[in-house]
Amino acid sequence: MAQKSRRPSPFTHPILFLFYLLQSLADRLLSPVPPNGRLHRPKVAIIGAGITGVSSAAHCVGHGFDVVMFEAGPEKNLGGIWSRVNNTSSLQIHSMMYRFHPSVKWDEAYPNRQRIVEQVRDLWERYGLRSKTKFNTRVDKVYQDDRGRWIVNNTANGHFEGVIAAIGTCGEPKMPQLPGMADYKGPVYHSSDLTGKPAKGKTMAVIGGGASAVEALEFAARAGASKVKILARSDKWIIPRNALCNVLLSLNVFGQETALSWIPEALLRRLFYRDLADLAPADKGIFTDTPMVNSDVMAKLRSGEAEWIKCEIERFTAKGVLVRRRGKDGKDEEIAADMVVMATGFARPQLSFLPETCFEAPYAPPNWYLQTFPPRHPSVSCINCTYRSAIGTVGNWHVGIYTRLLLMFLVDPLTRPSPFWMRRWIDMTRLLKRSSPVGAFDFFTYLELVWWFVFCVAFNPFRWKWALFVFLGIGYALPARVVEAEDKMCSEVGINGHADADVGLGF
Ligand SMILES: Cc1cc2nc3c(=O)[nH]c(=O)nc-3n(C[C@H](O)[C@H](O)[C@H](O)COP(=O)(O)OP(=O)(O)OC[C@H]3O[C@@H](n4cnc5c(N)ncnc54)[C@H](O)[C@@H]3O)c2cc1C
Ligand SMILES: NC(=O)c1ccc[n+]([C@@H]2O[C@H](COP(=O)([O-])OP(=O)(O)OC[C@H]3O[C@@H](n4cnc5c(N)ncnc54)[C@H](OP(=O)(O)O)[C@@H]3O)[C@@H](O)[C@H]2O)c1
Repeated sequence: MAQKSRRPSPFTHPILFLFYLLQSLADRLLSPVPPNGRLHRPKVAIIGAGITGVSSAAHCVGHGFDVVMFEAGPEKNLGGIWSRVNNTSSLQIHSMMYRFHPSVKWDEAYPNRQRIVEQVRDLWERYGLRSKTKFNTRVDKVYQDDRGRWIVNNTANGHFEGVIAAIGTCGEPKMPQLPGMADYKGPVYHSSDLTGKPAKGKTMAVIGGGASAVEALEFAARAGASKVKILARSDKWIIPRNALCNVLLSLNVFGQETALSWIPEALLRRLFYRDLADLAPADKGIFTDTPMVNSDVMAKLRSGEAEWIKCEIERFTAKGVLVRRRGKDGKDEEIAADMVVMATGFARPQLSFLPETCFEAPYAPPNWYLQTFPPRHPSVSCINCTYRSAIGTVGNWHVGIYTRLLLMFLVDPLTRPSPFWMRRWIDMTRLLKRSSPVGAFDFFTYLELVWWFVFCVAFNPFRWKWALFVFLGIGYALPARVVEAEDKMCSEVGINGHADADVGLGF
């Protein structure tokens, strides 16, 4: 399948070349063919045109399900958050772990923002999604008609059997108003708005100690800033940009702190933090919050190019920021800076357009079936937008798996879980993770996610015939004959599962 990417040379980049060949093989075997005729299967509304929305739409149309995509922003926002961050932003994890569709082929290890957006647009064009996308259309209401079909905003947009919400977790930049901000004489920027800002020879104070603060460091290095001071009021784990290390951490199938968690923590302190070990969180386990993935930060701290200051922010002054150092004898200190970067995160987009039945306590997001399906609505899948923290990656195989689970539920009533059984799965997961220091669904690892999927398909024999389709996308014809035979059996015993794709009958 034609796709814009350059094949790396086997002589100068042998590992990348091998990676490229593997991606080409996955593309040939697993990419659904872009549609070229009428899409006769149920119709799905997709909300959000970031990586997740575009990828799930490509899966839907590739399997014969029609879609309409609704995107709040204009066409230049195709690619979601990646269309609105700095040119120096790049994947922190290896692109091997960030293949958001099997037809995406990376030709570099850590692609930058432009490359990611290019890939999303290319996927969107190849799968004929241009004519199916409504830009400048913010969704503020999703409701059902009397036949259980979904309506998005109003009936003029049509009726849908399924809904995928892909609104992400990073909305508008957060710019908290801190005391004294108006007195500060220098410029203040949000961390996502640094492209083109003059920083050469300047001292930069960065408020915040998350992934965006570390990214601001990268911007500063490229822009030639003389010194960066990161002002962090809380601690997060940093792990190296090393695919093996990331994969090993993702393999914790329990998805929570265990009696053995001290081993990776001690190894990280000793082998990665080394002389900077006091920067590692003292009271927060590695399996409780999304770690930052960056190796350069340690080198920059050691060389003196950057300083990591654990502190509370008191207020802005004319020359910089007044902070109180954390620790036993915390002192006030003025951090002088020519410019201040607010790496204070992004507001979380809200799923409040969904019906109230999706938010019934104690089953409000992220406490949903497989973290994604609200227990009362198996025809709604909220992919990558309910999660809080994880060790894994957002743009990966699971987008396809979650999409195909929804497609299976839409066409095969016996696979569709009932609210009762969805709630029991949530209860079971909470029970299994009862010793986790954070909520059961507030943190997960990639292997735990895989276990959820395997459990979901293995637990219900009516789903077995779908296993290849759900996990690999294999079988364009879907197990239609079997579903027909099951339908016949069901109608003989008086069950009409097709009447409403949102009514779960199974377990
Ligand atoms: C600088 C930066 C770097 C990152 N790097 C990584 C990384 O290396 N690895 C990783 O795994 N993750 C990373 N992330 C997390 C990032 O959120 C994911 O990589 C990924 O882009 C999320 O894609 P998405 O499609 O789910 O959401 P988004 O990209 O946020 O797209 C959601 C879309 O939905 C639209 N939308 C929202 N609400 C509505 C509505 N009501 N109606 C209509 N449309 C709506 C938005 O306009 C947006 O276009 C990074 C985030 C940032 C900010
Ligand atoms: N390439 C990458 O992988 C990459 C790069 C950037 C972002 N991201 C992702 O994007 C998401 C957002 O990351 P982010 O770093 O922008 O945001 P974030 O993780 O929410 O971190 C924001 C930081 O700002 C601090 N903060 C917030 N308000 C503050 C205030 N009023 N005063 C002082 N400090 C304040 C927070 O402290 P507290 O923690 O104490 O609240 C935190 O340290 C994350 O999911 C992240 O993984 C990924």
